[in-house]
Amino acid sequence: MGLNLGDIFPNETVKTTEGIFKLHDYIGNKWLVFFSHPADYTPVCTTELATVSKLVENGEFEKRGVKVIALSCDSIISHEGWIKDINAFQGCDGKNNLPYPIISDENRSLAIMLGMLDEVDKDKSGIPLTARAVFIVGPDKKLKLSVLYPATTGRNFNEIIRVIDSLQLTSKYSVATPANWRNGEDVMISPTVSDSDASVKFTKGYRTVDVPSGKRYIRLTGQPHL
Ligand code: BEZ
Repeated sequence: MGLNLGDIFPNETVKTTEGIFKLHDYIGNKWLVFFSHPADYTPVCTTELATVSKLVENGEFEKRGVKVIALSCDSIISHEGWIKDINAFQGCDGKNNLPYPIISDENRSLAIMLGMLDEVDKDKSGIPLTARAVFIVGPDKKLKLSVLYPATTGRNFNEIIRVIDSLQLTSKYSVATPANWRNGEDVMISPTVSDSDASVKFTKGYRTVDVPSGKRYIRLTGQPHL
């Protein structure tokens, strides 16, 4: 199985380190970052959960109205032991909780439903590992982004935050963000907006980049509402 952009994210009941709940209840009216892991007590995963923990503690998700949840296919008891290692790894010895829940998907039902099994990297007994998936879900519970990394490559969570900034901006305004865009930089006017509408909508004005085709499709404007 798997999900396409725009699909409603499954409203499964999940067992987590913070209790049992339905995913849509957890999202509420916020955005969600859902990220999965091959297994507990693995080195790359430990760095990833520690990195996300620091970003949550620094308020990077809260100020964007984003909830975070992780998934790993081991038990809650295993997650609880591993959390101590994750905290020790980031210099917080003795701390036994994380600022976000980890789902226990022991029978891999969510991993299968979300198309996250990695047929290339298998565990010691030959069972496919869960890939490093990231799903971003909007307050409307629809899937806005999906990326899949192999077990051997840790993710860049600053990139996930950059994408959230773009998704939130482009959901409000008829703009798109160019390659390597960072929050605050100029954005591109959506090709669906005519030149005359652009002059009205974008009060900061816009400039068109001259290209050999003579087509006026690269139109830049200041980031709206900055
Ligand atoms: C890790 O998280 O370190 C890892 C997990 C599975 C395969 C390779 C690395």
